[in-house]
Amino acid sequence: MKIAVCPGSFDPVTFGHVDIMTRAAKLFDKVIVLVSINPSKNTSFTAEERVAMIKEVTKDIDNIEVDIFEGLLADYLKMSGACAIVKGLRAVSDFEYEFQMALANKRLYADAETVFLTTSAENMYLSSSVVKQIASFEGDISHFVPPSILETIRNRLIKGV
Ligand code: PNS
Repeated sequence: MKIAVCPGSFDPVTFGHVDIMTRAAKLFDKVIVLVSINPSKNTSFTAEERVAMIKEVTKDIDNIEVDIFEGLLADYLKMSGACAIVKGLRAVSDFEYEFQMALANKRLYADAETVFLTTSAENMYLSSSVVKQIASFEGDISHFVPPSILETIRNRLIKGV
């Protein structure tokens, strides 16, 4: 069974992430969307909240699972038997950082292949930070996050609840 891991902070998950997860699920037998915990990073949503939102927006895709991990991605790959890391590439500006991570992960675990999927054109500019910034000014984020989690995201980012 070919298993891929789709790692990220997903704070919060956006249409851009869902696009990559959905396409990865067509390429691999199983995709584990991995919510990575980074204690030095302040997040708007707890890891459990991020998992719940990802589960909600991927509930119709049978071969997607969601997990949480604190540690090295290379170690999670070894532990889970995954053969690939799937990342979305938006622009050249993403490339340098992603290339560095791909090489580091391969050095840590020789079987760790990183597969880059090019972001769909309509999501080129999209990121969790953009969503957070627009929400902080009470802008309309409905174009950026799935409708089923829109209220949860608005409540936290706009109303602070
Ligand atoms: O959505 P993000 O914040 O860009 O995701 C970054 C993430 C979680 C993929 C990256 O920070 C990561 O892989 N973290 C796990 C720790 C690790 O393995 N770091 C070394 C990679 S070189």
